Amino acid sequence: MSDRYLPPARVRADSASPIQSLDDWRRVWMAAQQDPDAFWLHETRRRLRWQRPPTEGLVGNFSDVAQQPIRCFADGRLNITESLLDRHCEQRPDKTAILWEGDEPGDVRRLSYAELHAEVCRAAGALRRLGVQKGERVIVYMGMVPEAAIAMLACARLGAVHSVVFGGFSAEALRDRVRDCGAVLVITQDEGLRGRRTVPLKATCDEALEGEHGVRHVLVYRRTGAAVGWTPGRDVDWAEALAAEAPDLPAVICEAEDPLFILYTSGSTGRPKGLVHSCAGYLTWAAYTHEVVFDLRENDVYACVADVGWITGHSYIVYGPLCNGATTLMFESTPLHPDAGRYWDMVDRHGITIFYTAPTAIRALAAQGDAFVRRYDRSSLRVLGTVGEPINPDAWRWYHDVVGEGRCAVVDTWWQTETGGIAITPIAPATPTRPGSATLPNPGIVPVLLDADARVVVGPGEGRLCLSQPWPGIARTVWGDHDRYVSTYFSTFPGYYFTGDGCRRDGDGYHWITGRVDDVLNVSGHRMGTAEFEAALVSLDAIAEAGVVGFPHPIKGQGVYAYVVLQPEAAGADEAALLKAVNEGCRAVIGAHARIDLVQIVPGLPKTRSGKVMRRILRKVAEGAPEQLGDVSTLADPEVVAAIVAGARRL
Ligand code: WT7
Repeated sequence: MSDRYLPPARVRADSASPIQSLDDWRRVWMAAQQDPDAFWLHETRRRLRWQRPPTEGLVGNFSDVAQQPIRCFADGRLNITESLLDRHCEQRPDKTAILWEGDEPGDVRRLSYAELHAEVCRAAGALRRLGVQKGERVIVYMGMVPEAAIAMLACARLGAVHSVVFGGFSAEALRDRVRDCGAVLVITQDEGLRGRRTVPLKATCDEALEGEHGVRHVLVYRRTGAAVGWTPGRDVDWAEALAAEAPDLPAVICEAEDPLFILYTSGSTGRPKGLVHSCAGYLTWAAYTHEVVFDLRENDVYACVADVGWITGHSYIVYGPLCNGATTLMFESTPLHPDAGRYWDMVDRHGITIFYTAPTAIRALAAQGDAFVRRYDRSSLRVLGTVGEPINPDAWRWYHDVVGEGRCAVVDTWWQTETGGIAITPIAPATPTRPGSATLPNPGIVPVLLDADARVVVGPGEGRLCLSQPWPGIARTVWGDHDRYVSTYFSTFPGYYFTGDGCRRDGDGYHWITGRVDDVLNVSGHRMGTAEFEAALVSLDAIAEAGVVGFPHPIKGQGVYAYVVLQPEAAGADEAALLKAVNEGCRAVIGAHARIDLVQIVPGLPKTRSGKVMRRILRKVAEGAPEQLGDVSTLADPEVVAAIVAGARRL
């Protein structure tokens, strides 16, 4: 097979990872399969610092999540920050824990494990003084500054539950999340900074909290020093509050299954769900996968350029790397500031060995040409990762050949907010790769493909990707709504966790993720629900009805296509002006990252006689394949389809 890349030959002397060959992978995967309890108890005991080590392993199965939630290590007690901080303060106190690169190239801060420990303790002391107690919820609404990680870990130090809200979200989206989780405190900063543009985080926070009485305090980190509104009694300055605290604060011991954080994510229907991740199972999974997939070594300089507002930032900037005692980069800027060479400039200056980004960034950078890459020394690189969306083979090859000079392992890691960590992926030193394939499941992951009739696909074939057994990092519930958790993930195919993705398996057992099969969009790796867009659109005066679907986009992976039915009084509106208005609406309701690419005014949406919108038709037209519409005879008004096809928009 020509399109097959063998893992680069390497010295394994300083690697701690137990999987170094495909044979290792087979053996370890089988061990996790045959005795999950023993396997994960062994892994967690050597990876985490426990106050009372667990004797119970993984409990629960996917047939009974309604009655019996998944549990892992449930009789153990710990505070996970001891695994991330205190332990490393003994073993590697001066090693850089967080390597921060600010918006301007070379604006660098380094926090050693000892310094990070002290800052987290001070921040935890400040939170405690502001009344935050174990189990209470704290929203973190920040940009990419070390203080965002410090805020998360300060919550964890107290056993409080953090919920990070991506800094691009609007006031309305922030308010929804504050309410849904019942937050008592919000941590934010004056402004964010990205590509020399400021993001008014505090002002947005003020708007979100108008009339919200549950939030007792807002802790404000000064990033730019801009003047911001101040509510006396409520608002507290981060630096002042921390200065008053001691650099050492005993960790509050928690149960293994206590919630560590809530992270909101979009689904097919309704409002975003607050997925709940547990303390010990999640951290064990994040640390294990981080070490094994990337073949982590003690002297690595590890860089994941995601945002802490998403699960990738939680698991692979903060929790996994710090648990593993790694040096982890936090990057405040964008891949294009000041130009398309920024990532490779950082690789050169910091000697980055493992680099992890999203296909959308790779495509955008490849489009700018190779010169931006070749300008910098990339000889330190050993492993290149991608995550967030399917990667097209051309982008994969560019990453491998140009960025990695053909020397580096490329790991296309498939996972989700729900899985807590990487689930299907090559293991850098072990797995032969194919451009576009996420290849094989990690130990603990048992993928199953189901066809339209819910029959298991045996051998090569295509189907809906399900996972048949629990693993330590699976989200345990939806905050405040366990029924929604059960119905979203375990009711489509009883007995299985349904991922929402389609997948093909080839003759070698390799997995090729084909993308979402539900009404979830993935735009530049950002997960958004079509229902959220539709709600934002119909909230506008001019719009009576809206149907939103995705379509293939050369850079973003998916673009957003909106079909709108105007209110009678808005008749005659022109589409260009409408596009501007709908995007202002989406920005206000969802956030700056929610943009519609194409809008088409239609006389009506294609509906069945029972009134259900036939989204398949909307999708086919948006994809530019109206010849594949199929049977439209069950429609209430077939003429609507003709109008939709005739007026279809293209980029
Ligand atoms: C959805 C989950 C996992 C962290 C970032 C996204 C898509 C993710 C891949 C990949 C193909 C992928 C899936 C998945 N996805 N990684 N390597 N290949 N698709 O987390 O926001 O929860 O989104 O992202 O469609 O279901 P998320």
